[in-house]
Amino acid sequence: MIGSRDEFFAYANYLEAEHRRLQRIVRSAQDAFAGSLELAESQLSTQRHALIDCLTDLHQQLDQHFEQEEQGGCIEEAVSHRPALASRAKSLEAEHAQLLDGLDQLIRCLGRHVSGQDWVEVVRRFDQFADTLRAHEAVESDILQRGFNLNLENA
Ligand SMILES: [Fe+2]
Repeated sequence: MIGSRDEFFAYANYLEAEHRRLQRIVRSAQDAFAGSLELAESQLSTQRHALIDCLTDLHQQLDQHFEQEEQGGCIEEAVSHRPALASRAKSLEAEHAQLLDGLDQLIRCLGRHVSGQDWVEVVRRFDQFADTLRAHEAVESDILQRGFNLNLENA
């Protein structure tokens, strides 16, 4: 549990570093999805399996990240300083399950033989997932910064 302002600051910075690390994974998966649109049908099957591994790993890491956030008390602490942030914080927590579920659905979809226009749709859905995750993390960062009037960018 967070005690002093210094502990909060250190933990908030840790979460920000985790966001950047997770975003690098998401970006490389997006690049792999985009590159797959150029592949021949015969190569797509191999790429589908590589993407299943990549998204399964991402799912596991996001699951751990969300659990850390929910149990770490950082968001709660921010809200205790600025109660007006409470409803945004509550929505954020609800989004964790939705994001993991969206990723699960994509992994299941990749497990089937997908090609042609259906594959283009899968690529679009992952881009949409990436955008939703970025927006989610941006709101979270905003709550952390407002909660303690921190500028994490300059940390
Ligand atoms: Fe987060």
